[in-house]
Amino acid sequence: MGELLKGRVAVVTGAGKGLGRAEAIGLAAQGAAVVVNDLGTNIDGSSTSPEPADAVAGEIKQAGGAAMPSYESVATEEGAGRIIRAAIDNFGRLDVLVNNAGFTRDRMVYNVSADEWDAVMKTNLYGTFYCTRQACAIMKQQGYGRIINTSSHAGLGNMGQASYSAAKEGIIGLTRTVARDMGRYGVTCNAIRPVAGTRGFEELVKEKGLREAWARMWGEKAAATRVKQMLELNRPEDVASLVVYLASQAADNVNGCVFEVWHGHIGIYTDPPPVAQVIRKDGRWTPEELAGKMPETLTRDKVRELPPIFPF
Ligand SMILES: NC(=O)c1ccc[n+]([C@@H]2O[C@H](COP(=O)([O-])OP(=O)(O)OC[C@H]3O[C@@H](n4cnc5c(N)ncnc54)[C@H](O)[C@@H]3O)[C@@H](O)[C@H]2O)c1
Repeated sequence: MGELLKGRVAVVTGAGKGLGRAEAIGLAAQGAAVVVNDLGTNIDGSSTSPEPADAVAGEIKQAGGAAMPSYESVATEEGAGRIIRAAIDNFGRLDVLVNNAGFTRDRMVYNVSADEWDAVMKTNLYGTFYCTRQACAIMKQQGYGRIINTSSHAGLGNMGQASYSAAKEGIIGLTRTVARDMGRYGVTCNAIRPVAGTRGFEELVKEKGLREAWARMWGEKAAATRVKQMLELNRPEDVASLVVYLASQAADNVNGCVFEVWHGHIGIYTDPPPVAQVIRKDGRWTPEELAGKMPETLTRDKVRELPPIFPF
């Protein structure tokens, strides 16, 4: 067992499967006592079960670590409150919060119902806020804390993911502000855009024709290589290593940062993104002036049909 998190207490939401499971196990392997929170949902957030949280908490304990399961939903204030309280009531403090619980319901924007929008927002964005707010009150008093939020490349814009991308980019804005609110109290808040072949990706390949869609874009060979890379190489544990580092004392100077992470690859974004180019005049631009000027300057290389943003 490592000692990066010896004596620390962590909460990981959505820790029963995928990334959260690897993060909880990774934190425990470095000495943290972990509240393993998971509602036990399907990929689309439907249904509930205590089994995933029980299984991961059991796995950690069997390996000699300290853990307890929590079956609450992050999507309500009360549920989030009980998740955070579980850390205090059972382990006496809260040093690390990993906001990981999330799901997507993909549809083109013109088909997204208000209910689907709300469900995705509630778990991804509100859940992150509810847990963060409760944790920050405790961490402020302690004078120490680490918060790691789970965003996605989808937040940069991804076809068919209106609600999910809005929620995930909302998480980036929240991260930047929490970092500024809390830095002076010894608390850091960072975000990751992870990539790992978890059950959601497996479903996209098996049931939603992702390999075929990629083959149309890049050809059969490239599609097969990428699917193989996702399923065999890009494992949740690759993401967990970065999260464990960010959760440790060693990352004390890292605050308000956004990372992308997958197998063997960790990138840090320029953040906030710089303005690329500016046009200026003395006074107000008229719409007619802009119709003439913009295509020659700021919008010269822009296109209406946008390419995918995923960097892999
Ligand atoms: N896997 C990827 O490549 C990838 C990429 C970008 C972002 N993400 C994000 O990473 C996180 C984990 O994704 P994953 O691929 O491991 O998914 P996953 O479906 O395997 O795991 C998510 C877990 O969250 C739990 N959960 C769902 N709603 C909950 C709620 N309201 N309260 C508590 N727990 C809840 C589920 O039961 C599930 O165990 C998500 O936020 C996801 O959006 C994943």
